[in-house]
Amino acid sequence: MNSSSDVLIIGGGAMGLATAIELTRQGAKVTVLSRNFQEAALHAAAGMLAPQAEGLEPGPMLDLCLRSRDLYADWTHQLTELTGLEAGYWPCGILAPAFADSPPRYTGDVEWCDRTTIHQHQPDLSPEIVGGWWFPQDAQVNNQQLAQVLLQAARQLGVTLEEGVGVTGVETQDNRVHQVQTTVGPWQAQTYILATGSWSQDLLPIPVTPRKGQLFAVQTHGQPLTKVLFGPGTYIVPRQNGRIVVGATSEDVGFAAYNTPGGIQSLLAKAIRLYPPLADHPLEGCWWGFRPATPDESPILGHSPYDNLILATGHYRNGILLTPVTARLISDLIVTGQADPCLADFSWQRFASSFPSTERLALAH
Ligand code: GLY
Repeated sequence: MNSSSDVLIIGGGAMGLATAIELTRQGAKVTVLSRNFQEAALHAAAGMLAPQAEGLEPGPMLDLCLRSRDLYADWTHQLTELTGLEAGYWPCGILAPAFADSPPRYTGDVEWCDRTTIHQHQPDLSPEIVGGWWFPQDAQVNNQQLAQVLLQAARQLGVTLEEGVGVTGVETQDNRVHQVQTTVGPWQAQTYILATGSWSQDLLPIPVTPRKGQLFAVQTHGQPLTKVLFGPGTYIVPRQNGRIVVGATSEDVGFAAYNTPGGIQSLLAKAIRLYPPLADHPLEGCWWGFRPATPDESPILGHSPYDNLILATGHYRNGILLTPVTARLISDLIVTGQADPCLADFSWQRFASSFPSTERLALAH
């Protein structure tokens, strides 16, 4: 029996690690169980911080995303001070070019660039581009570097990281989690956090399902692109070292863990149409990942049907963006016992009709 920590975090992706870091800084003793750090949705993304370019409707989700974007510069700066590692945060802005046949993508108070302006903003875009929207406050982070920074920070702060340990069941008693079963035996803590993303349904019947994204990358010399391009059906994310990451498909195909010629072909066609020079750079590779999608495409955060189980899952397309705010909201909830008012909008209870009663949940485990 393992029972060493105040808080046991199930899931070693961005949410799990960032929340572990925040909790440890606030004095908690934290263990993270991760079946496989490489599986996390963090690795699948391109690292866009794009609440505006994603075209989120005004409301609680957009507000949460904007709040998290505002935290990013300080959050990554503090992680770098601690670890000496760069996360590649780059407030480069996002340009959303439009073709004549592009459907309108944004409403409200958005900055439109005409044809001349957009081609000045970014040389070598397709001559078919007739204009576009400019989101100067949207940004990017290098998600691969961020993964290393989070792991290193967690290690340095003394978080217990158990890699290769899968949780196979959650055992409950009297509306509380009593222990979890893992691949190395039972594990107990005072408080549990479920941060298992696309795999959440393996442990609790909550409506989170995988949405596959395929990506590819090319390497350039110099820096031909200095802004993220968010085109119809694709995005092109230039790193400061000349690498360009292109994403992403969005496929409801379960856990089909491979790239497909069709997926990559469709990305290549859309990305090259948008930015033709992409066609001539060395292809570095392609990969895939699974975004954790909920029915309303917003995360499930905060209390669960069990008194000592907190949920931090279902971030869908905005996981990397929402990592700092999630870590802060969840750690404050645990340390102070006070829920930030915004958590009410992300409660599991909005899916209560599809959620079994606590009694039935308990029977399921
Ligand atoms: N955030 C972009 C994506 O999920 O593809």
